[in-house]
Amino acid sequence: MSKHFLSLADISAGDLREILDEAHRRKKARSGQPKGTLDTDAPLAGHVLAMLFEKSSTRTRFSFEVGMTQLGGTSIFTSAGDMQLGRGESIEDTAQVLSRFVDVIMLRANDHGALVALAQNASVPVINGLTDYNHPCQIMADLMTLEEQGRDLKGLRLAWVGDGNNVAVSFINGAAKFGYQLVISTPTGYGPSGQMVERARADGAHIELVRDPLNACTGVDVVIADTWVSMGDKDIDKRMHDLADWQVNEDLMEVAQRDALFLHCLPAHRGEEVTASVIDGPSSVVFLEAENRLHAQKAILLWCLEK
Ligand code: CP
Ligand code: NVA
Repeated sequence: MSKHFLSLADISAGDLREILDEAHRRKKARSGQPKGTLDTDAPLAGHVLAMLFEKSSTRTRFSFEVGMTQLGGTSIFTSAGDMQLGRGESIEDTAQVLSRFVDVIMLRANDHGALVALAQNASVPVINGLTDYNHPCQIMADLMTLEEQGRDLKGLRLAWVGDGNNVAVSFINGAAKFGYQLVISTPTGYGPSGQMVERARADGAHIELVRDPLNACTGVDVVIADTWVSMGDKDIDKRMHDLADWQVNEDLMEVAQRDALFLHCLPAHRGEEVTASVIDGPSSVVFLEAENRLHAQKAILLWCLEK
């Protein structure tokens, strides 16, 4: 049975902890080395990663490709539209064919169902590079960043402000696994499904739904924003209007802890979901967060390939 990385909800807390520990270890071990050089043990020598993208990407594409290089392997990038997949070949057949060429597959998909179908039909591990439903690789990098900043995840209070989107779902899925408290502030109609929140709570997650963003951010250790318009969202004007009061600005950072950190998965839209003063200010760790995509995903690749 291949070890897929599709959702934090599917993976044990112990395994997720080991992935983060490995990410920290490897990052420290290669500190100062040129980015294209190998980790000394090159554990994925001879291995090939296929990267399939149905949507745009900067961080996910570069971090997986460089990560694979550092681990001693190689990668093949393709936009799904350039494959026969874009002309109607089924995801099931694509999974079987790619499994004969590569050792691991990463997919960024419009529809989470396509990712699940790929995993069900592949005989190699499949990694979720973002879907409309979730973005688990992102959260691993985010949590790594918080730890690197000296924060203990257990009991840490995180406020998610804005659209309850795919990234928010992964924060929900990670809450019970890592023991942080998650406060979610969204306008009506933009929150996570009640069923998902209840399921997470039943698994031990501490999740609070607090509509007012000022109340949500009061006393928290971390404030998190993401774009108001995710890839694939069509109702742009409506979103801009509905989410306007959920901008992360200095008023919100003011009521958080004095040493609170600001996270954003990027790409950001200054003046929309976050002000320039916050994302470019002293609380922001967004570029470290982006860098940690590389280190976290190397550990995810190793976990999937049992190295
Ligand atoms: N945060 C993130 O996934 O960025 P990309 O869309 O650039 O990959
Ligand atoms: N929520 C955003 C994340 C981008 C990395 C999107 O899905 O477009």
